[in-house]
Amino acid sequence: MIVGERIRLRAVSREDLPRFVAWLNDPEVREGLELYFPLSLDFEEKWYETMLNAPVDERPLVIELHIAEAWVAVGNCGFHKIDWRNRSAELGIFIGEKSYWNQGYGAETMRLLLKHGFETLNLNCIFLRVFSTNTRAIRSYENAGFIHEGQMRQAEYINGAYVDVLLMSVLRSEWDAA
Ligand SMILES: CC(C)(COP(=O)(O)OP(=O)(O)OC[C@H]1O[C@@H](n2cnc3c(N)ncnc32)[C@H](O)[C@@H]1OP(=O)(O)O)[C@@H](O)C(=O)NCCC(=O)NCCS
Repeated sequence: MIVGERIRLRAVSREDLPRFVAWLNDPEVREGLELYFPLSLDFEEKWYETMLNAPVDERPLVIELHIAEAWVAVGNCGFHKIDWRNRSAELGIFIGEKSYWNQGYGAETMRLLLKHGFETLNLNCIFLRVFSTNTRAIRSYENAGFIHEGQMRQAEYINGAYVDVLLMSVLRSEWDAA
Protein backbone atom coordinates (compact mmCIF):
# COMPACT_ATOMS: atom_id res chain seq x y z
CA MET A 1 0.00 0.00 0.00
CA ILE A 2 1.06 3.56 -0.65
CA VAL A 3 -0.55 5.48 2.18
CA GLY A 4 -1.39 9.18 2.37
CA GLU A 5 -3.40 11.36 4.72
CA ARG A 6 -6.90 10.66 3.42
CA ILE A 7 -6.18 8.14 0.70
CA ARG A 8 -4.28 4.97 -0.01
CA LEU A 9 -3.21 3.38 -3.27
CA ARG A 10 -3.51 -0.38 -3.58
CA ALA A 11 -3.04 -3.00 -6.29
CA VAL A 12 -5.85 -3.71 -8.75
CA SER A 13 -7.66 -7.02 -8.27
CA ARG A 14 -10.04 -8.93 -10.53
CA GLU A 15 -12.98 -7.86 -8.32
CA ASP A 16 -12.35 -4.21 -9.34
CA LEU A 17 -13.12 -4.84 -13.00
CA PRO A 18 -16.92 -4.34 -12.92
CA ARG A 19 -16.49 -0.95 -11.24
CA PHE A 20 -13.81 0.04 -13.77
CA VAL A 21 -16.24 -0.78 -16.59
CA ALA A 22 -18.99 1.32 -14.95
CA TRP A 23 -16.64 4.28 -14.35
CA LEU A 24 -15.03 4.18 -17.78
CA ASN A 25 -18.36 3.99 -19.59
CA ASP A 26 -19.59 7.15 -17.83
CA PRO A 27 -19.49 9.94 -20.45
CA GLU A 28 -18.51 12.60 -17.89
CA VAL A 29 -15.57 10.54 -16.59
CA ARG A 30 -14.28 9.57 -20.02
CA GLU A 31 -14.56 13.12 -21.39
CA GLY A 32 -11.03 13.83 -20.13
CA LEU A 33 -9.60 10.44 -21.15
CA GLU A 34 -8.40 9.01 -24.44
CA LEU A 35 -11.41 6.69 -24.62
CA TYR A 36 -14.11 6.94 -27.24
CA PHE A 37 -15.48 3.41 -27.63
CA PRO A 38 -17.75 1.65 -25.09
CA LEU A 39 -15.91 -0.83 -22.83
CA SER A 40 -17.14 -4.32 -22.00
CA LEU A 41 -16.29 -6.50 -19.00
CA ASP A 42 -14.77 -9.05 -21.42
CA PHE A 43 -12.44 -6.39 -22.78
CA GLU A 44 -11.51 -5.27 -19.26
CA GLU A 45 -10.74 -8.86 -18.25
CA LYS A 46 -8.33 -9.13 -21.19
CA TRP A 47 -6.75 -5.81 -20.17
CA TYR A 48 -6.36 -7.20 -16.62
CA GLU A 49 -4.53 -10.32 -17.84
CA THR A 50 -2.14 -8.18 -19.90
CA MET A 51 -1.66 -5.78 -17.00
CA LEU A 52 -0.51 -8.64 -14.73
CA ASN A 53 2.48 -9.10 -17.05
CA ALA A 54 3.40 -5.40 -17.07
CA PRO A 55 6.47 -4.23 -15.11
CA VAL A 56 5.47 -3.90 -11.47
CA ASP A 57 6.18 -0.14 -11.32
CA GLU A 58 3.85 0.48 -14.27
CA ARG A 59 0.86 -1.38 -12.90
CA PRO A 60 -2.15 0.82 -12.16
CA LEU A 61 -3.22 1.44 -8.58
CA VAL A 62 -6.70 1.77 -7.11
CA ILE A 63 -7.38 5.02 -5.23
CA GLU A 64 -9.20 4.36 -1.96
CA LEU A 65 -10.63 6.92 0.46
CA HIS A 66 -11.07 6.37 4.17
CA ILE A 67 -14.77 7.08 4.69
CA ALA A 68 -16.77 6.15 7.81
CA GLU A 69 -14.20 3.61 9.03
CA ALA A 70 -14.03 1.83 5.66
CA TRP A 71 -11.86 2.06 2.56
CA VAL A 72 -13.87 3.00 -0.53
CA ALA A 73 -12.50 2.55 -4.06
CA VAL A 74 -13.06 5.70 -6.13
CA GLY A 75 -10.63 5.61 -9.06
CA ASN A 76 -7.43 4.55 -10.63
CA CYS A 77 -3.97 6.05 -11.21
CA GLY A 78 -0.41 5.10 -12.00
CA PHE A 79 2.77 5.50 -13.98
CA HIS A 80 3.22 4.38 -17.54
CA LYS A 81 6.09 4.60 -19.96
CA ILE A 82 8.81 4.72 -17.31
CA ASP A 83 12.07 5.60 -19.02
CA TRP A 84 14.72 4.26 -16.65
CA ARG A 85 17.73 5.72 -18.50
CA ASN A 86 16.36 9.26 -18.47
CA ARG A 87 14.53 8.66 -15.19
CA SER A 88 11.26 10.11 -16.45
CA ALA A 89 7.71 8.78 -16.44
CA GLU A 90 4.23 9.76 -17.44
CA LEU A 91 1.36 9.38 -15.03
CA GLY A 92 -2.40 9.28 -15.33
CA ILE A 93 -5.44 9.40 -13.08
CA PHE A 94 -9.21 9.20 -13.02
CA ILE A 95 -11.68 9.35 -10.16
CA GLY A 96 -14.71 7.40 -11.34
CA GLU A 97 -16.95 8.20 -8.36
CA LYS A 98 -18.02 11.69 -9.38
CA SER A 99 -19.46 12.56 -5.95
CA TYR A 100 -15.84 12.75 -4.75
CA TRP A 101 -14.68 15.27 -7.37
CA ASN A 102 -13.57 18.75 -6.26
CA GLN A 103 -12.60 17.73 -2.74
CA GLY A 104 -8.85 17.72 -3.26
CA TYR A 105 -8.55 13.95 -3.63
CA GLY A 106 -7.13 14.25 -7.15
CA ALA A 107 -4.39 16.64 -6.00
CA GLU A 108 -3.64 14.47 -2.96
CA THR A 109 -3.36 11.37 -5.16
CA MET A 110 -0.96 13.20 -7.46
CA ARG A 111 1.19 14.36 -4.53
CA LEU A 112 1.34 10.77 -3.28
CA LEU A 113 2.38 9.51 -6.72
CA LEU A 114 5.01 12.25 -6.99
CA LYS A 115 6.43 11.24 -3.58
CA HIS A 116 6.48 7.60 -4.66
CA GLY A 117 8.01 8.48 -8.03
CA PHE A 118 10.78 10.67 -6.64
CA GLU A 119 11.50 9.07 -3.27
CA THR A 120 10.98 5.39 -4.06
CA LEU A 121 11.44 4.98 -7.82
CA ASN A 122 14.17 7.66 -7.92
CA LEU A 123 12.71 9.41 -10.98
CA ASN A 124 13.90 12.85 -12.11
CA CYS A 125 10.95 14.10 -14.18
CA ILE A 126 7.28 13.17 -13.87
CA PHE A 127 4.93 14.48 -16.52
CA LEU A 128 1.36 14.19 -17.73
CA ARG A 129 -0.77 15.16 -20.68
CA VAL A 130 -4.16 16.80 -20.23
CA PHE A 131 -6.74 18.17 -22.66
CA SER A 132 -6.82 21.99 -22.57
CA THR A 133 -10.59 21.73 -22.08
CA ASN A 134 -10.20 19.73 -18.85
CA THR A 135 -10.04 22.75 -16.57
CA ARG A 136 -10.79 20.83 -13.36
CA ALA A 137 -7.91 18.45 -13.96
CA ILE A 138 -5.51 21.28 -14.87
CA ARG A 139 -6.37 23.14 -11.66
CA SER A 140 -5.94 19.96 -9.62
CA TYR A 141 -2.51 19.30 -11.16
CA GLU A 142 -1.44 22.90 -10.52
CA ASN A 143 -2.48 22.44 -6.89
CA ALA A 144 -0.31 19.31 -6.73
CA GLY A 145 2.71 21.28 -7.98
CA PHE A 146 2.74 20.51 -11.71
CA ILE A 147 4.27 23.21 -13.94
CA HIS A 148 2.93 24.06 -17.40
CA GLU A 149 5.61 22.87 -19.80
CA GLY A 150 4.16 23.08 -23.28
CA GLN A 151 1.24 22.55 -25.56
CA MET A 152 0.60 20.19 -28.44
CA ARG A 153 -1.69 22.10 -30.74
CA GLN A 154 -4.90 20.43 -31.96
CA ALA A 155 -3.55 17.07 -30.84
CA GLU A 156 -6.91 15.45 -30.00
CA TYR A 157 -10.18 15.34 -31.91
CA ILE A 158 -13.10 15.31 -29.46
CA ASN A 159 -16.79 15.87 -30.11
CA GLY A 160 -16.21 17.27 -33.57
CA ALA A 161 -13.41 19.69 -32.68
CA TYR A 162 -9.66 19.65 -32.21
CA VAL A 163 -8.34 20.46 -28.75
CA ASP A 164 -4.84 21.26 -27.61
CA VAL A 165 -3.06 18.87 -25.25
CA LEU A 166 -1.07 20.45 -22.43
CA LEU A 167 2.13 18.97 -21.07
CA MET A 168 2.70 19.47 -17.36
CA SER A 169 5.58 18.19 -15.25
CA VAL A 170 7.44 18.25 -11.96
CA LEU A 171 11.22 17.90 -11.70
CA ARG A 172 12.95 16.23 -8.79
CA SER A 173 14.68 19.53 -7.93
CA GLU A 174 11.29 21.29 -7.73
CA TRP A 175 9.94 18.52 -5.51
CA ASP A 176 12.98 18.77 -3.21
CA ALA A 177 12.67 22.56 -3.05
CA ALA A 178 8.98 22.37 -2.14
C1 LIG B 1 -9.27 15.20 -12.96
C2 LIG B 1 -9.57 14.63 -11.59
C3 LIG B 1 -8.61 13.49 -11.29
C4 LIG B 1 -9.33 15.74 -10.55
O1 LIG B 1 -9.60 15.23 -9.27
P1 LIG B 1 -10.49 16.07 -8.25
O2 LIG B 1 -10.36 15.41 -6.94
O3 LIG B 1 -11.84 16.23 -8.81
O4 LIG B 1 -9.75 17.49 -8.26
P2 LIG B 1 -9.27 18.39 -7.04
O5 LIG B 1 -10.36 18.47 -6.04
O6 LIG B 1 -7.92 17.97 -6.60
O7 LIG B 1 -9.09 19.79 -7.78
C5 LIG B 1 -10.11 20.33 -8.59
C6 LIG B 1 -9.88 21.83 -8.71
O8 LIG B 1 -10.53 22.30 -9.90
C7 LIG B 1 -11.43 23.32 -9.54
N1 LIG B 1 -12.50 23.23 -10.54
C8 LIG B 1 -13.59 22.45 -10.54
N2 LIG B 1 -14.30 22.64 -11.66
C9 LIG B 1 -13.62 23.54 -12.40
C10 LIG B 1 -13.82 24.15 -13.66
N3 LIG B 1 -14.88 23.83 -14.40
N4 LIG B 1 -12.90 25.03 -14.11
C11 LIG B 1 -11.81 25.34 -13.36
N5 LIG B 1 -11.56 24.79 -12.15
C12 LIG B 1 -12.46 23.91 -11.68
C13 LIG B 1 -11.83 23.02 -8.11
O9 LIG B 1 -12.38 24.16 -7.49
C14 LIG B 1 -10.48 22.61 -7.55
O10 LIG B 1 -9.62 23.70 -7.35
P3 LIG B 1 -9.39 24.38 -5.89
O11 LIG B 1 -9.14 23.22 -4.94
O12 LIG B 1 -8.20 25.24 -6.08
O13 LIG B 1 -10.65 25.11 -5.57
C15 LIG B 1 -11.04 14.12 -11.49
O14 LIG B 1 -11.92 15.21 -11.56
C16 LIG B 1 -11.36 13.11 -12.58
O15 LIG B 1 -11.01 11.96 -12.44
N6 LIG B 1 -12.02 13.51 -13.70
C17 LIG B 1 -12.44 12.58 -14.75
C18 LIG B 1 -11.28 11.89 -15.48
C19 LIG B 1 -10.20 12.85 -15.93
O16 LIG B 1 -10.48 13.88 -16.52
N7 LIG B 1 -8.94 12.49 -15.64
C20 LIG B 1 -7.79 13.31 -15.97
C21 LIG B 1 -7.25 12.99 -17.31
S1 LIG B 1 -5.82 13.99 -17.71
